[in-house]
Amino acid sequence: MNESQRRAWEALGLGPVWRLRERAGGPVAPVQVPVEAALPREVPIAAQAVAVAAMDWAQLRAAVAGCRACALCETRTRAVFGVGPEHASWMVIGEAPGAEEDRRGEPFVGNAGRLLDQMLAALGLGRERDVFIANVLKCRPPNNRDPSPDEIRHCEPYLARQIELLSPRVIVVVGRIAAQALLRTEASVASLRGRVHRYTIGARTIPLVVTYHPAYLLRSPADKARAWADLCLARAAHDEAGG
Ligand code: URA
Repeated sequence: MNESQRRAWEALGLGPVWRLRERAGGPVAPVQVPVEAALPREVPIAAQAVAVAAMDWAQLRAAVAGCRACALCETRTRAVFGVGPEHASWMVIGEAPGAEEDRRGEPFVGNAGRLLDQMLAALGLGRERDVFIANVLKCRPPNNRDPSPDEIRHCEPYLARQIELLSPRVIVVVGRIAAQALLRTEASVASLRGRVHRYTIGARTIPLVVTYHPAYLLRSPADKARAWADLCLARAAHDEAGG
């Protein structure tokens, strides 16, 4: 943990604790890891954001797993952090876990997820290899209702830190809720898709492409051709960002 991380954690009363961890090929070694990362409900959003912005991947995973920042923690089975390599150059961002995701702890594993995998495969991409997949909300809203603005605000620091740590070459945002949250707009997917937006975090500006949510495409297959065009646009932005 570096100095700024230590200060942020101290400000929130989230001191790291010691835990034994296996060292590859050697004896068990004591290492300092935050296993009690649960952010208590009374932590103000601004303080939460400061703490989260200094976390590394392990701390972020622990903080999301133990998060109690909004009432969704009462109804979730588990928080869904996201899946994929921590060095993936593609990032896909959806809305929130559904029932299946809540049960399994992985995003996009239901019917919509299968279509997403097929769309990625058509680009030659696999979730375990090339793409980090996350959601705006880490916990399932009951009855699959839309996330509330308050829930999005509480969860935003986690996604922002995921984007910053990953620093992907391109972000593909699927569906209205995620597009509106990331681009801070009320515009429709139809009006946002088909062009490359920019997402700025820290010193980086990342190309961002909006497309239809796979669950919508299952209901409206006629729009699959538009979604494919969006993915091709994302591919071009990705390759261009690679230099
Ligand atoms: N829909 C989403 O937006 N995310 C998931 O993880 C599953 C379904």
